[in-house]
Amino acid sequence: MNMTKKMQDAFNAQIAAEMWSSNLYLQMAFWFRKEGWKGFSSWMFKQSEEERQHAMDMAQFVLRRGGEVCLTAIEAVKTSWADAKEAFVDTLAHEQNVTGLINRLADVADEEKDRASQNFIAKYIDEQVEEERNVQDILDSFAHLSSHAVAHIDSHLAQRQ
Ligand SMILES: [Fe+2]
Ligand SMILES: [Fe+2]
Repeated sequence: MNMTKKMQDAFNAQIAAEMWSSNLYLQMAFWFRKEGWKGFSSWMFKQSEEERQHAMDMAQFVLRRGGEVCLTAIEAVKTSWADAKEAFVDTLAHEQNVTGLINRLADVADEEKDRASQNFIAKYIDEQVEEERNVQDILDSFAHLSSHAVAHIDSHLAQRQ
């Protein structure tokens, strides 16, 4: 059975959101490279590729189900950040937002009683748990770094005669 028009439109909106995510992380990769952060830059290139892959996977699913894929204009993304940590704070906020979008996509599949779409979307619900965890872990590392710096100041001040 083909997917309904409502389901198709919801997938097309999600495909646009995944492409926007891909552009956001690609821009972060460029910005990190310019700032001299090669590791962060390569992580963001991979993240950008993964988001594009999500868009492709969803597009192929829509086509398999007899739907039509319509690409839309993608809004511009932010182009620079104050520092590395701020880029990851933005990344977490963005992934939390995407989790909300995926949940709404699942709501549409429920409303349409579309079992195949429910099954397909389930892996993205799992994926968002991983995405949020991974970025939170990176942010936690930044927090540990700053407490390391505070400990360094503390031991330095302990040397006062
Ligand atoms: Fe994604
Ligand atoms: Fe993501």
